[in-house]
Amino acid sequence: YCQLSRLAIAAGKRYFGSATDNPELSDSPYVAQLGNTADFNQITEGNSMKWDATEPSRGTFTFANGDVVANLARSKGQLLRGHNCVWHSQLPGWVTAGNFNNATLLSIVQNHCNTLVSHYRGQMCQLYFTSLEPMITNSPSDVTVHVTTDSWDVVNEPFNDDGTFRQSVFFQTTGTAYIATALRAAHDADPNTKLYINDFNIEGTGAKSTGMANLVRSLKDQGVPIDGIGVQAHLIVGAVPSTLRQNLQNFANLGVEVAITELDIRMTLPATQALLAQQQRDYQTVIAACKAVSACVGVTVWDYTDKYSWVPGTFSGQGAACPWDANLAKKPAYQGIVNGW
Ligand code: XIL
Repeated sequence: YCQLSRLAIAAGKRYFGSATDNPELSDSPYVAQLGNTADFNQITEGNSMKWDATEPSRGTFTFANGDVVANLARSKGQLLRGHNCVWHSQLPGWVTAGNFNNATLLSIVQNHCNTLVSHYRGQMCQLYFTSLEPMITNSPSDVTVHVTTDSWDVVNEPFNDDGTFRQSVFFQTTGTAYIATALRAAHDADPNTKLYINDFNIEGTGAKSTGMANLVRSLKDQGVPIDGIGVQAHLIVGAVPSTLRQNLQNFANLGVEVAITELDIRMTLPATQALLAQQQRDYQTVIAACKAVSACVGVTVWDYTDKYSWVPGTFSGQGAACPWDANLAKKPAYQGIVNGW
């Protein structure tokens, strides 16, 4: 019973989940654990719904890889988080600063978000319903339940670390207008999915978190649909911000839900017993912060195993960031998550 998504649900959360990516899905032991719904009742596709994957040339949409992940999640009754509609990174070459004027780029953003979110609309709704079923005992099979669907990271990483807006192609051309355009387009496509703005280095209080709070407050004041703030939480062993819980509560006080969307806690390699023990405590701290804030709806790890973590390829000399090791064995971090819930 002490498994990760069961404990999350017992703590009143919607889910505990993992990111995954298409190249990993030929690894059957990996897929078997990914589909263990006692640990993971939610999946985020790590790359296959990004702009370069879904609209490689203007107006031509390809959903094949995203559909593979969505179908896998559906087959297991897991929730799906869409990731993402608008981001400065992993853009196709045709989305380049200077190529489009303000009005044209806004219409491109509108069309991209609307088409993407529309494609996955029915699926997310069905997924949530199915994921609840095993949790409900004696549920009559003919009952119709209207439940919350799951979520989209509509806007990803709009801020610099000092809380100013990132000079993405979107910001350079439209200012902040692209953010409301993206959110409205996603809302039009699926009024039931939760619409998030997601970023990193907004785990603790500080300038970047203040920037995020100001943005969300101003969007709400303007009546722009916004449901949640995604806190990525790509963290470092021994350096979990002490203000994490307070910061999640500050976000929640804006009237939105919050989620830990991309959790991993990296260390300088090689992993030692002492580092793995500290990592266990750090995972526990993060989970306990989400547990303590009622508006924190769930936690997703950015893949569950060191075998497929993005960390070593991005942060030189660092790794071992996930709760399972590269042989798919549970690390002390797993127990940290259990203890945190
Ligand atoms: C990462 C993927 O995991 C990698 O496979 C890819 O090469 C780069 O992107 N923040 C995000 C994610 O929002 O989309 C990123 O995912 C990790 C950082």
